[in-house]
Order: sequence, then structure tokens, then C-alpha cells
Amino acid sequence: MSKAVRFSRYGGTEVLEVVDVDDRPPAAGEVRVRVVTAGINPGEAPIREGANSAHPATFPSGQGSDFAGVIAEVGDRVDSLKVGDEVIGFSDWRNAQAESVTISADHVIPKPHGVDWNAAGALFVAGTTARATIDAVRVRRGDTVVVAGGAGGVGVLATQLAVLAGAAVVATASAPNHAFLTSIGAIPVEYGKGLVDRIRKIVPDGVDAFIDAHGAGNVELGVALGVDRDRINTIIDFAARKKYGVKADGMSTVEPREALITLAHLLANGELQLPVYATYPLERVRAAYEQLSKGHGLGKIVLEVTPAP
Ligand SMILES: NC(=O)c1ccc[n+]([C@@H]2O[C@H](COP(=O)([O-])OP(=O)(O)OC[C@H]3O[C@@H](n4cnc5c(N)ncnc54)[C@H](OP(=O)(O)O)[C@@H]3O)[C@@H](O)[C@H]2O)c1
Repeated sequence: MSKAVRFSRYGGTEVLEVVDVDDRPPAAGEVRVRVVTAGINPGEAPIREGANSAHPATFPSGQGSDFAGVIAEVGDRVDSLKVGDEVIGFSDWRNAQAESVTISADHVIPKPHGVDWNAAGALFVAGTTARATIDAVRVRRGDTVVVAGGAGGVGVLATQLAVLAGAAVVATASAPNHAFLTSIGAIPVEYGKGLVDRIRKIVPDGVDAFIDAHGAGNVELGVALGVDRDRINTIIDFAARKKYGVKADGMSTVEPREALITLAHLLANGELQLPVYATYPLERVRAAYEQLSKGHGLGKIVLEVTPAP
């Protein structure tokens, strides 16, 4: 048996429990992973609260899509993985926040040695979404790109992918996160009143593409900056998408395995960083989501589930 996050009714963080569950042995084509780290994401809260009608829960429900760990068991017909291999995983079944995850072998990729466990366990959702946003607005060398929410889990990766693509990137964030954004080659700008004028002053020749990784009026900001609507992408403001005819590509629009392999190699090479601003043991999953709900911080919050090898 091992510990896993479960909830059995909709509600706030109080419905989250860490319970003992049976480890499921891997069937053919599956592996069982001892999870070392697991990420948490804002989109998990509305599912738990019953506020996401497109993705209702079934009870008892597990939680989480991001994880990294060590292969503990290998099912039949899995040739590419062996016990002891270090992997980064991605789950479509809300079961990542657990000491043991049994999953299709094609939902793990090798963890490159240079990738630390916290970044590995938090990479999937933020990373694939960042990739989707960059592709959606077709970032090209020489472009000027604004990333709204540039310090968040998605934004901090989208900012770096845009810099790597050769764009000049203006990233909106609060002052405490500016030094990091500068260090990764972006131009930070404080969000809030007067933002459109601050951005115009920084990039007087205009903005070619706009990535909204925060919502709350940022699509309107992209429109006000004169960006072509098919080069504005939001991952959260679906009402604004409809109103302004902008794009809303998210994680489901990229091939996850291929994207994850590329992102993991960029992390290993030091070309990409995924900062982690808080860690919690699995037992404190409620506290982790309470901190996440405050909506501020650089990068990701990670659950440290079992000791790293
Ligand atoms: N469509 C999809 O496929 C998809 C996938 C993943 C996530 N999402 C959604 O995308 C959003 C971002 O996800 P995430 O994981 O990046 O969230 P996150 O890491 O929790 O984002 C927190 C960040 O938001 C920033 N922020 C707070 N207020 C802001 C404002 N007024 N303007 C700009 N930035 C502000 C904070 O920066 P400071 O600390 O500097 O305040 C902080 O870094 C969430 O709503 C999530 O549900 C959608």
C-alpha cells in the first residue's frame, strides 16, 4: 500500500485527503512509478470544486497530472524501461499526486540527469501549455512578444521559449520577480494601472505577438497594443476569445510526449529554467493549494512525495 491524494466530494481544500491505497501492479504496456515529486496546477481547483462542467470528477477522485519518479515495476511488453530508471511522467487520469502511479509506459519519458527533481515533477502541464502558446502566436526571430503573467508556471516557460526563438520579450510581473525575468533575457514590466503606456514606452515600434497566461483583461491589453488577433493567444479567458476572435490554444493542442522530451532536454542543457518557489510534503497538499490560490510567486509549487534516489 502507499499514500495518495483523494477527494470524495466537491469542495475547497478541506475535501483533500491523503489516504492509503493499494498499489496496482502494472498490466501489459504499463509501468509502476515510485513518485519523487508531483506538481500542482491552478486548473485542478475548479475540478475539485465542481466548477468545471467540461471535466467533472468521479468519486473517489485522485488529483494531478505532473510527476517524476523512479520505475518500480515494469509490465509485460515494455522493452524500453527497467526498474530503477528515472522518469518524468504525464497523466491524463488525475492520479499523479501519489507515492505510486501505475500508468501506460508511453506516458513517461526518461529524466535527463541534469534535470532536478522539482523541475521534473512540475514540467508537464506548464511546459506543454507554454509550448502551445508559442506555437499559437507563431513566435519568430526578431518579433516583439508580450507575455502577460510572465512569472507564473506557464508564463516563465513561455517567456524563455520566446527568448530562445529569438524574440524580444516583455513580461508582465510584480516587482519581486523582475530580477529573475531580466536574468532570463526578458524585459519585465509591472502589471496594473497604466500598463499599456508602460509597454508602449518600452517597445515604441509595437508588439507582434501577445501571450495571455493570466486572463483578467490581458486579451484587451493585446488588442489595445494593436496586435493582430490571430497572434494573440489566451489560455484562460475564453469569453475574451469569443468577443475578440483571438486564439485560445492550450496544452491539449500539442503532442505531449514530444513536447515534454524537448522541454526536458532544454532544462538539462541549462537553456531553460523552471523555478520552484515552494515545496510541500504530500501530507500538506491542502496547504500547497492554499498557497497556489493566492496567485503570486515565481514558477511552480511542488509536492515532495518520496525521497529522491
Ligand atoms: N488552457 C490550458 O491548457 C491551461 C493550462 C495550464 C494553465 N492554464 C491556466 O492558465 C493560468 C496560468 O496558469 P499557471 O500555472 O501559470 O498559474 P500560476 O503559476 O499560478 O500563476 C501565478 C502567476 O500569476 C501572476 N499574476 C498574478 N496577477 C497577475 C496580473 N494581474 N497580471 C499578470 N500576472 C499576474 C503572478 O505573478 P506575480 O507573482 O509577479 O504577481 C504569478 O507568477 C491559470 O488560470 C491556469 O488555470 C490553462
